[in-house]
Amino acid sequence: MEPLHINFTFERFENASTFSPEIQSLLKRCVEAMQSAYAPYSKFHVGAALLLEDGTVVLGNNQENAAYPSGLCAERVAIFAAGANHPQMRITAIAITAGSANYTSDDPVTPCGACRQSMLEYEIKQDSPIPLYLLSPTGQVTLIPAVSQLLPLHFDAKNLL
Ligand code: THU
Repeated sequence: MEPLHINFTFERFENASTFSPEIQSLLKRCVEAMQSAYAPYSKFHVGAALLLEDGTVVLGNNQENAAYPSGLCAERVAIFAAGANHPQMRITAIAITAGSANYTSDDPVTPCGACRQSMLEYEIKQDSPIPLYLLSPTGQVTLIPAVSQLLPLHFDAKNLL
């Protein structure tokens, strides 16, 4: 039996200086979103900024709750807001960052499994890749070219036919 392999390609940049002004601005907006996260329990603040095809930026941040599972991650707050308010608009990029007193790594936070699944739904719906720009606390940017890359062998609507 031949083993099967899945390749995963992504890039890492020391800082945002080589990106377009639009992406640099999006990265700033996700930091802004992170700063107003409501995370009194974990004290782990996450911000997401979605760029739509007409230039609109939709922000999201994590919203926690005393009944812990009732809270929601930044990425899903943002993508559901885009889905609710701009249902016909394509998403051209998503910038994500996170921070807390103890988290000062070069490595960015990567979206949790549920957020990967949720973002993938919209990537499939719009039939074009959504690149993810993951900003680390030290300013490095990891560029994932499409959400689908983060979720190999995923489940989606085609399985429901
Ligand atoms: N969180 C996000 O907002 N996005 C992620 O991708 C990972 C985790 C939030 C959820 C919770 O409010 C806090 O970070 C700690 O898990």
